[in-house]
Amino acid sequence: MTAVVIVGSQWGDEGKGKMTDYLSQKADVVVRSQGGNNAGHSIVFEGKKYALRLVPSGIFGAHKQAVIGNGVVINPKALLQEIHYLSGNGIDTTGLRISNRAHITMPYHIALDQYEEEAKGANAVGTTKRGIGPTYMDKAARIGIRMCDLLEHDTFAAKLKHNLALKNKIITKVYGKEPLQFDEIFNEYIGYANELRKYVTDTSLLVNNALDADKKVLFEGAQGTMLDLDEGTYPYVTSSNPAAGGAATGAGVGPNKLQTIVGICKAYCTRVGSGPFPTELHDEIGDSIREKGNEYGVVTHRPRRIGWFDSVAMRHARRADGMTWLSLNLLDVLSGFKTVKICKAYELDGKKIDYYPASLSELDRCKPIYEEMPGWDEDITKVKKFEDLPKNAQNYLHRIEELAQTKLATVSVGPDRDQTIILHDPWKDAE
Ligand code: IMP
Repeated sequence: MTAVVIVGSQWGDEGKGKMTDYLSQKADVVVRSQGGNNAGHSIVFEGKKYALRLVPSGIFGAHKQAVIGNGVVINPKALLQEIHYLSGNGIDTTGLRISNRAHITMPYHIALDQYEEEAKGANAVGTTKRGIGPTYMDKAARIGIRMCDLLEHDTFAAKLKHNLALKNKIITKVYGKEPLQFDEIFNEYIGYANELRKYVTDTSLLVNNALDADKKVLFEGAQGTMLDLDEGTYPYVTSSNPAAGGAATGAGVGPNKLQTIVGICKAYCTRVGSGPFPTELHDEIGDSIREKGNEYGVVTHRPRRIGWFDSVAMRHARRADGMTWLSLNLLDVLSGFKTVKICKAYELDGKKIDYYPASLSELDRCKPIYEEMPGWDEDITKVKKFEDLPKNAQNYLHRIEELAQTKLATVSVGPDRDQTIILHDPWKDAE
C-alpha cells in the first residue's frame, strides 16, 4: 500500500503541478479527488508545456492510469476539449478513467454561478465562474446529475427535465434572465456522454485494487486548504474539500490508506478572489513579488494578492491536513530583498493568538506579528544543494520548518524540473 497525497497548504496556486510532476514519475496511478475546471496547472512534458484543468498529470506517463475521482465535478465540454488537445499533441489518453459517481456541471450551474456572484455585489466570493459551487450545491441537495446518469439517456432526460424546470424558475423569476432550453442541453450532453463513455468506470474499485496490489498511487490536490469548504476562510472558499481528507472521500478510499501527506506552499502567500488575508502586502514589495513570481491566475488571469509567509495559517493547514512534509516553491522570488518577514502569530484585540479565527470580523481585526530576518541578494536559481543556498536563505527555510512544525521535503528555486532541491523523497515513507 503506497499512497502519497499532494495538498495545497495555502490558498491554491502553490505550484502543486511541480511536485505532482516529480512524484508522478514513479506513480502507477494519479488521482484527482475534488474541484473541477476551476483548477489549472501546467506540466512540462518532453520540452512542451501543457495546461491541464481536469485531467490528472498521470496522463503523461505510458502505462499509468490518470483517474478523475467521484469527488470531482466534471464539465464534460471542458474535459473533452482537454482530451482532444492532449491527443492532438500526440499524448495517449487511453489511461484516463472517470468515476461513474462524479457529478456533472451543467450550463445552468455556470449561469447561476455568474448570477449569484453578481447578486452578492460587494460580498462576491470572486469565483472562477465555472459553475463549481452550484454543481456541488445540487450534489448536496441530492438532485445532481452523475456521470452514470448521463450515460443512461432516460435517466438523464428525466433528471434534466426536473432540474431545468426548477433552475429556469430561479433564472427567470429571481434573476430576470433568459431561460435555458431542454433540447439544446440534452442533445449537446448526449454527444459528450457518447464520447466519454469509454473512460467511465468505478474508480474507487480501481484505486483500492491498485493500493492492495502495492502500486504507487498519487493523489493530486486542487486549490488549497485555506479554500477548503470546512477549514478555509468561509464563505470565501471553494465548494469542495481540498484538505487531505477530501482525497479519501473524493477517491473512495479509506483515510487509513493515506499516510504521507505533502503540503505544498510558496515562500510567501498569494490568494485570488476575495476574503481575509492577514499578511497581505499593499506596497511595492507586494508588487515586486507579483511581477517576479508572475503571480497572475492560470484560469482567470487575475492578478493575485500577495502577502508574507503566514505560519499561523500554515499550522492551521498542517493540523487540518495531517501534513507530514512540506514542499516549498518560488524561493528564488524572494532574492534581492533587504529583509524578509514571517508572520509567527496574530494580535487580536490586544492579545497574542496562535490559531486561525473562524469569525471573519475577528480575522479582520487580526494584526500579524512578524519576525523580520535578513534577506539575500544572490541568484539562487542554479543551486542544487541546500548547503549551497546563501546562509540567510537557509535560516529563512529553517525558521519556516520550525514555525510550520513540518520538515521540508523539497525546495524549488525555479520553474524547471531540475531547479528543485530534494531533501526527502516522499515515496520512501511507504517502502
Ligand atoms: P470557485 O471554486 O470557482 O467557486 O471559486 C471560489 C474561490 O476559490 C475563489 O476565491 C477562487 O478564486 C478560488 N479558487 C478556485 N479555484 C482555485 C485555484 O485553482 N487556485 C486558486 N484559487 C482558486
